[in-house]
Amino acid sequence: MRNSTRSAVDPFIVMDVMEAARQAEDAGRHIIHMEVGQPGTAAPEGARQAVARAMEEDAMGYTVALGLPALRERIAQLYGEWYGVDLNPERVVVTSGSSAGFLLAFTSLFDAGDRVAIGAPGYPSYRQILKALSLQPVDLPTSEANRLQPVPDDFAEMDVQGLMVASPANPTGTMLDHGAMRALVEAAQAKGAAFISDEIYHGIEYEAKAVTALEITDDCYVINSFSKYFSMTGWRVGWMVVPEDHVRKVERLAQNMFICAPHVSQVAALGAMECHEELQANMGVYRKNRQLLIEGLPKIGFDRFAPPDGAFYVYVDVSQYTDDSRAFAREILDEAGVAVTPGLDFDPVRGGGTLRFSYARSTADMQEGLARLGAFMRARGFA
Ligand SMILES: Cc1ncc(COP(=O)(O)O)c(C=O)c1O
Repeated sequence: MRNSTRSAVDPFIVMDVMEAARQAEDAGRHIIHMEVGQPGTAAPEGARQAVARAMEEDAMGYTVALGLPALRERIAQLYGEWYGVDLNPERVVVTSGSSAGFLLAFTSLFDAGDRVAIGAPGYPSYRQILKALSLQPVDLPTSEANRLQPVPDDFAEMDVQGLMVASPANPTGTMLDHGAMRALVEAAQAKGAAFISDEIYHGIEYEAKAVTALEITDDCYVINSFSKYFSMTGWRVGWMVVPEDHVRKVERLAQNMFICAPHVSQVAALGAMECHEELQANMGVYRKNRQLLIEGLPKIGFDRFAPPDGAFYVYVDVSQYTDDSRAFAREILDEAGVAVTPGLDFDPVRGGGTLRFSYARSTADMQEGLARLGAFMRARGFA
């Protein structure tokens, strides 16, 4: 059978690491998971209860394409609670996770061949989804001085039709403050480039509240999800906020591409939004884990990283030990029984010298992971 060239996307390496870890577990080994980008906790209790009730009372058929009106309204209310932004619920589109949001946003904003700037390192699927839609991802190699976030100078001379940012970012956990976000919005707008802000890690922030692009402009797409702060990765539900005059266009795309996000997950999401205490308890675990890693990693030779402002990752420069992070991660899995993610997933050029450690799991797992990593590094003479 013939093949399209645009379908030739790269694998998501962390998925391969997860598969290798699963095989090791099947063979009877105990593995500490510091590779996964997801909470170890279930959907909040209030979400599960809402689903149990709805299943008895409702046929759970299709919803309208833009999502349950009550959920869209509750999400709009969140913008008031979190940022003091008054958001028209009509601008909220409920999606099947932020991943569906990317498809809708890229399709709505760009034509085949358009160039979209993304920070490197960055979430790998941006690049692959852009390629699969016949768009051209343009990597902006970020610098440590800018805490691995893009700045206007990085794309000042470029012909790009879009700029995509993430704050807090995956894999670094670093954030754009109000000034940095504003500078990027203005630089993109000055070029006539669409501005897309991936805000999936909002709510998981440690020192300061994350800034939404909507505090700065209405002329942007904001993509978010129930996967991370709300601990609902497998439910596949998220949302997008678009300018008023884009709603109808995105609605038509959503009708045709997805019909709607899963009804049951929309009910769960509405329940999850009232579970503040449980979600803050999860935050307490992340906060403790972050502290453990920030203090523990430098003692075992992993000392080159920017402390994360948000999300649940530490992105470490290990170029003094290896230029093949994939092989290094494999050795760590085989010898130490700890699954970590090679930086090549996030930065095809410089990622050979970096690793991402996720601290989304339990504190006991993080302690054990650090102990095993320490033994591995000492055995190599690196610590
Ligand atoms: C920065 C970023 N954006 C988007 C996603 C995809 O999330 P979702 O589960 O909402 O599709 C992830 C998943 O890890 C991510 O790290």
